[in-house]
Amino acid sequence: MRGERQPMAERSGARVVLGVGGGIAAYKACELLRRFAESGHEVRAVPTASALHFVGEATWSALSGRPAATEVWEHVEDVPHVRIGQTADLVVVAPATADLLAKAAHGLADDLLTNTLLTARCPVVFAPAMHTEMWEHPATRENVATLRRRGAVVVEPAVGRLTGVDTGKGRLPDPSEIYELCRRVLARGPAATVSDLAGRHVVVSAGGTREPLDPVRFLGNRSSGKQGYALARTAAARGARVTLLAANTDLPDPAGVDLVRVGTAVQLREAVLKAAADADAVVMAAAVADFRPVDYATGKIKKQGDREPDPVRLTRNPDILAEISATRARPGQLVAGFAAETDDVLANGRAKLARKGCDLLVVNEVGERKTFGSAENEAVVLAADGTETPVPYGPKEALADTLWDLVARRLDAG
Ligand code: CTP
Repeated sequence: MRGERQPMAERSGARVVLGVGGGIAAYKACELLRRFAESGHEVRAVPTASALHFVGEATWSALSGRPAATEVWEHVEDVPHVRIGQTADLVVVAPATADLLAKAAHGLADDLLTNTLLTARCPVVFAPAMHTEMWEHPATRENVATLRRRGAVVVEPAVGRLTGVDTGKGRLPDPSEIYELCRRVLARGPAATVSDLAGRHVVVSAGGTREPLDPVRFLGNRSSGKQGYALARTAAARGARVTLLAANTDLPDPAGVDLVRVGTAVQLREAVLKAAADADAVVMAAAVADFRPVDYATGKIKKQGDREPDPVRLTRNPDILAEISATRARPGQLVAGFAAETDDVLANGRAKLARKGCDLLVVNEVGERKTFGSAENEAVVLAADGTETPVPYGPKEALADTLWDLVARRLDAG
């Protein structure tokens, strides 16, 4: 008899079922399997019969270290069609074909993987890969919506080269990013069976804006984008449709996230306003330059002999957080911001929350180890209703999850 399921962080390894659908991206699932196995998880590969046309049984068995079965008729004495699903901590299907999504949505069970999906009570992640037409077909759209409504995480496919010469939305995201998402889902434990952001569209800005002086120079800041990317990843793992507006970041694209790259504060403002039009929540994690040079030199600024340089005249950038807080593209839209402070952290944070007019403000103290470039953070989330939620020093993803808890609760209440 198994005990209560606990978050992965509290266990040495999780029981992961890797379902593999019949698509060319099946070869990428080998890399995903390897990552799970190398991280100490107990992985069982369950390829469909069509997946075996792309990658053979020997590969799945060798990489997982256990036999990879496809049909329910093998080792019948172990009742695998029930037991594999019942004992799993996570089922991830990658690639999930249109056919598999349809079967899962309608509860069909004609092979080991679809039986497993019906018996699993753990979190389930689908990473679809197919041609754009199939992904966009109303039948697939409805199947995806059904699965998400039931709490499954269905990752948005990536955009890029598909099988053959065509390009578009439908590629399997990078295996390392699918792994990261699964890691997040496992870390949430049983709570992950409730995709509390499913059906929600969230917009996250990340990174730091750069304000050009000439073709080779800019005014910028040290933001790495890690906190914004953690927010995007965790929201995707909780079932949200995520638009990530990335300002000058150098991080791998998170799986299942619509990524829009921007450079300056003015470009970020335009992108935020556009994406916020149908968003349930907007989180401004980007470090936005408050000022930009008045003049842009189209040629590189050169030294003028021994002459002192001309001063750089600056003008104010728009305050995006204040603007979206004041305008709210949708009734009930939730707006959150970040504030890095050096002194009187809480008092300055409270004043900033009121000034910006947002619902939530994550306030962190800038200092050693904290904030810029690091993978950890420590903060207090201030809310317009007067509540304060301290977040202890820890991974930026933990802070992100706390913020989404607060956002989800407010959206549900609204
Ligand atoms: N922000 C914004 N637009 C700006 C400046 C900041 O949307 N032009 C957002 C940031 O994304 C962040 C929040 O506002 O979520 C707070 O940023 P911060 O730089 O601390 O705010 P400022 O208003 O610039 O305050 P300060 O005077 O302390 O620099």
